[in-house]
Amino acid sequence: MAQLAAAGANAAALNRICGKNVVVVGGSRGIGLGLVHSFLERGNTVVATTRKAAAAGKLQELQASAPADRLAISELDVSCSTNVANWAQRLSDSTGLRHVDVGHQGGPEGRGGP
Ligand SMILES: NC(=O)c1ccc[n+]([C@@H]2O[C@H](COP(=O)([O-])OP(=O)(O)OC[C@H]3O[C@@H](n4cnc5c(N)ncnc54)[C@H](OP(=O)(O)O)[C@@H]3O)[C@@H](O)[C@H]2O)c1
Repeated sequence: MAQLAAAGANAAALNRICGKNVVVVGGSRGIGLGLVHSFLERGNTVVATTRKAAAAGKLQELQASAPADRLAISELDVSCSTNVANWAQRLSDSTGLRHVDVGHQGGPEGRGGP
């Protein structure tokens, strides 16, 4: 995985990301969901995370309408570093990719994200 979206990242830089494998942590709503839309439109393959996939209705709708295999939904809670390490290992194992660069959206109100 080569790229990652982070809240506040330079929009022009994000717009140059095309045809990559992108992880959007916190992709179920808000800024993260917008980034998922945007990355898909530019031909990227996206892994979008949520703490509860079953409750991520908008992400599921988007997955249903996205080109085949271009959007994967993955469960992740970044509040625990062990969770993040285990998730990254699972993702690496399942995709065969050697590394994952992770930035994230969202988090507790007023704390600027998890
Ligand atoms: N909106 C703005 O105008 C604005 C402006 C400046 C900065 N920000 C900052 O940008 C970030 C995103 O804002 P937003 O408005 O898009 O927020 P939001 O609509 O509340 O979305 C938050 C996202 O973060 C995920 N999330 C929350 N806690 C998480 C955790 N512990 N582990 C993993 N994922 C978690 C949520 O996924 P699930 O609930 O599905 O797990 C959801 O996808 C926030 O940190 C906010 O402070 C926002």
